[in-house]
Amino acid sequence: MRIAMIGTGYVGLVSGACFSEFGTNVTCVDKDETKIAKLHENIMPIFEPGLDKLVENNVSGGRLEFTTDLTEAVKAADAVFIAVGTPTRRGDGHADLSYVYAAAKEIAEAMDGYTVIVNKSTVPVGTGDEVEKIIRETRPDAEFDVVSNPEFLREGSAIEDFMRPDRVVIGTESERAQEVMRQLYRPLHLIETPILFTQRRTSELIKYAANTFLAAKITFINEIADLCEKVGADVQAVSKGIGLDGRIGKKFLHAGPGYGGSCFPKDTLALVRTAQQFDSPLKIIETVVEVNAERKKKMAQKVIEACGGSVDGKRIAVLGVAFKPNTDDMRDSPSLDIIPALQSAGANIVAFDPEAMTEAKELLPNVEWKENSYATMEGADALVIITEWNEFRLLDLKRVKELLKAPVMVDLRNIYNRQEMKDAGFEYSCIGRPK
Ligand code: UGA
Repeated sequence: MRIAMIGTGYVGLVSGACFSEFGTNVTCVDKDETKIAKLHENIMPIFEPGLDKLVENNVSGGRLEFTTDLTEAVKAADAVFIAVGTPTRRGDGHADLSYVYAAAKEIAEAMDGYTVIVNKSTVPVGTGDEVEKIIRETRPDAEFDVVSNPEFLREGSAIEDFMRPDRVVIGTESERAQEVMRQLYRPLHLIETPILFTQRRTSELIKYAANTFLAAKITFINEIADLCEKVGADVQAVSKGIGLDGRIGKKFLHAGPGYGGSCFPKDTLALVRTAQQFDSPLKIIETVVEVNAERKKKMAQKVIEACGGSVDGKRIAVLGVAFKPNTDDMRDSPSLDIIPALQSAGANIVAFDPEAMTEAKELLPNVEWKENSYATMEGADALVIITEWNEFRLLDLKRVKELLKAPVMVDLRNIYNRQEMKDAGFEYSCIGRPK
């Protein structure tokens, strides 16, 4: 088996490397020459734990290669994966499919013999039909099938998610294509991963339904956290209390500053637009989008209150700016709302993130960047934790207290124990837990 992976972004690169680890020959294609040149030197375009090693091993094993030559890669492939970006289209919130369609046309021109074209990018319902139409128009005589195979990887644990998924969803009714897909995912049969074959449109919708459901689950617990603060209850205990009910499940019930990242904000909005377009509005998800956007802004107010009602002229230390730990991704990170709001209120921000600072420097002007946690908090009026990197979980509290000008900590990820903070002499604010 040989596959071509079009697009070496997050999904394409991780999936390509993992398929090669499964023993398939993979050629990853990208138009960006610099990116491909760097990959040839084993320099990864993103930070993802374990990815560089995986790529290095499979390149030296002869199963993984990188190229800018789409034609050659597609010609030789049994299956071609489209893993290009589907960003939010400016102005209307729909997914921008221009990269997907451009890739489809190029693939059509290059294909040789029966080829399975697999959509891995997150695409609205009906995109597979459109891709099929484009290919058919370009190559009326070609033998091919278009399949939907959404990915469910999380940044930061993408390799593990690929190697041990809860399920694999494959949208095609063609038996020939199903057989090719079965072969590609063969190693997962051995660990008894459920492989779900569905119609193509159903598979496309499963991806959006999964992400919007999870976004709704997070937003639900975030609102319960607000209520906990008002009534004097503890949201972590509420999460546990409801999560132990198998019908609810304990994952994705951590209250925080609001979800961010490259997927939930984009996908919730895109599904809302699709639903409106088909005159079947998803009111729950419309509300989730609205509540989450407001929440990220409200977090700055929480910091201001913790600082006694004003941050004007104050030095605020921020730990973590990436949208979640183990990634350098800043897309839709809560820090992009919280930091500018604090700056507008007159605060001077000094910040540190273990991986995301290069990108963050472009997005967050007038921030003083430091090399580590302790240097960040020196002389600050308050310490704010926005992202729960492991290295922020076990700070030396005595040293923190000595370095800070005032012992104020705002923990937007609930990674510290309230009693411990009290005993250490901190004025500690968190999310949805009693003071
Ligand atoms: C998400 C999904 O979890 C993946 O299954 C999916 O494949 C991916 O989107 C995608 O569509 O590509 P990801 O965005 O990498 O993955 O990260 P998550 O771990 O899902 O976190 C998303 C956001 O929700 C983060 O801002 C995180 O801090 C927040 N979150 C997550 C919470 O606030 N509470 C939780 O309990 C869980």
